Amino acid sequence: MVLPKLSLLFWILLSSYAILLINSPVKCDDDEKDNLYQGINKYRSSLNLKALTKNKNADCLADKIADQFKNQLCTNTTGANTVPGTEPQFSNYPNLLAKCQLAISDTRDGTVMPACVPGLASSLVLANFTKSLYSENLNDTKYTGIGIGSEDNWIVVVLTTDTPTGNFAPYSSNAANLISKVGMIYCSILLLAGKSFLS
Ligand SMILES: *[C@@H]1O[C@H](CO)[C@@H](O)[C@H](O)[C@H]1NC(C)=O
Ligand SMILES: *[C@@H]1O[C@H](CO)[C@@H](O)[C@H](O)[C@H]1NC(C)=O
Ligand SMILES: *[C@@H]1O[C@H](CO)[C@@H](O)[C@H](O)[C@H]1NC(C)=O
Repeated sequence: MVLPKLSLLFWILLSSYAILLINSPVKCDDDEKDNLYQGINKYRSSLNLKALTKNKNADCLADKIADQFKNQLCTNTTGANTVPGTEPQFSNYPNLLAKCQLAISDTRDGTVMPACVPGLASSLVLANFTKSLYSENLNDTKYTGIGIGSEDNWIVVVLTTDTPTGNFAPYSSNAANLISKVGMIYCSILLLAGKSFLS
């Protein structure tokens, strides 16, 4: 059987994508996080500050924390409206860190900023970080990295530093970064290929 060239290419793409999926979880559907990431970096550049780079381990922690918040309602005393010093503390925080292969020692200088926005409407989400007390953290040169996690109405930003006490010991070996970048490209190619096949 002779396969048309195009469909052969499609299957090669599909199978290599499947292999990538097995090796590393690739998500194509985290728009609200990407919007916030870009919004925060635009805010930083408007203040002449360096862009924050994505930190996988901080992403992981942000997700775990968002998961803790998810059953809480948005009130004027949670999230971005919290009075500094009254942030909720999770007794299982060390477990959350451990789930992300993190320790207190390499996260101490980081900052965790939860916000609650019904439906995660993107303009409100960004404002909850750039137009609240959190903006002081975003306007701080000591932070160099960022992780974002979300669950239901909650979105959590974790800021990291480039020092051993706040770098979240990212396993940002180039290999891991490359895989996730290649993954994103595959997502797009696959979507395109899928569309041209269906049409
Ligand atoms: C928060 O909301 C409650 C009830 O809606 C209100 O009584 C209280 O004054 C509000 N607190 C602040 C700080 O806005
Ligand atoms: C944050 O989001 C809430 C919705 O949960 C919104 O009412 C509030 O105005 C936002 N805060 C800021 C500073 O934009
Ligand atoms: C950011 O920080 C700088 C220096 O600390 C300060 O001068 C500036 O007003 C801050 N800007 C905002 C928007 O917070």
